[in-house]
Amino acid sequence: MLRLDPRQPDPDALREAGDVIRRGGLVAFPTETVYGLGASALDPAAVERVFRAKGRPADNPLIVHVASPAEAEALWAEVTPAARELMQRFWPGPLTLALPRRPHVPDVVTAGLPTVGVRMPDHPVALGLIRAAGVPIAAPSANLSGRPSPTRAEHVIEDLGGRIDLVLDAGETGVGVESTFLDLSVDPPVLYRPGGVTPGAICAVIGPIQIDPSVHGAEAGEAPRSPGQKYAHYAPRAQVIVVDGPLRDVQRKINDLAYEFMQEGRTVGVLATAESRGTYQVPVVLEVGSRKNLEMVASSLFATLRAFDRHGVDVVLAEGFPEEGLGLAIMNRLRRAAAGRVIEL
Ligand code: TXA
Ligand code: MG
Repeated sequence: MLRLDPRQPDPDALREAGDVIRRGGLVAFPTETVYGLGASALDPAAVERVFRAKGRPADNPLIVHVASPAEAEALWAEVTPAARELMQRFWPGPLTLALPRRPHVPDVVTAGLPTVGVRMPDHPVALGLIRAAGVPIAAPSANLSGRPSPTRAEHVIEDLGGRIDLVLDAGETGVGVESTFLDLSVDPPVLYRPGGVTPGAICAVIGPIQIDPSVHGAEAGEAPRSPGQKYAHYAPRAQVIVVDGPLRDVQRKINDLAYEFMQEGRTVGVLATAESRGTYQVPVVLEVGSRKNLEMVASSLFATLRAFDRHGVDVVLAEGFPEEGLGLAIMNRLRRAAAGRVIEL
């Protein structure tokens, strides 16, 4: 583990980490969204090691991280005007764009798909690492497959300690949920995963886009176009149930459910907001921030899900959020943590 200043990372440390990537090793590093587990995107053996370290199914493609739009264009077979406008407006930042790949992008990276998802992260350590490595870096979130994504280096160690070569620790990430994933190879473009860049912000630049039904919790079929959507994800060890609706009704329902579970001898936790935390008669109430500050909620969501494990709870009852703006990304992660167990009031 190397500790780095998130704003001015030590060039020697970055050089050392870049060498590890170039030699085919695995380096966990912070981005503005979550920690990623990086390998050289042009080295199939190194990328296979990423899949093994995470226990990730081989049919789930990785995002490639670059340090400039030009490096992205070198990975895509064709670049549309929409892609150029979006890169210009949102890079560096939490927006991944997929377009048809060039032949030199290895199959193992894209899980055999014809497109490759690329993004330029907005974090000095991530950008410094990519530049030091001198190659694009393929990186999924640095968690064990199925667990909440890591927003701190300790989460990476918790899941992957002993399985990877190096962790660059630059403290907490900012956005807290993974990047927005937009497929530009189809018309209109399809948003597969909501994140820090909202659909409204994208539409304002390129016009109408389509939101994949899985974003709102529709069952992803056997062969979804974005394979990650079919896997259970973000789950703490406890069973998660989301209760969504008017806040007063949500509070009442959560207290009723908590009472029932506690009668059965189960340990209950509630994922609450600043507005409501005082109303729960439950031993473990963890707050993710205020409903008036969804940036805060997004940035603390995964750490809070992990914290329930440390409290040893069996059931987490989570308040839902309106699916607008960043709320779309927050609710998408909660739905998936709950594997679809959402009670709509
Ligand atoms: O913010 C992020 O995007 C973080 C940081 C590390 O950059 N990365 C991340 O990667 O979340 P990962 O592997 O955990 O999630 C990538 C998602 C998966 O659901 C995968 O199925 C989807 O993106 N994906 C990747 N390439 C794709 C492609 N060519 N077409 C459709 N979906 C793709
Ligand atoms: Mg992930």
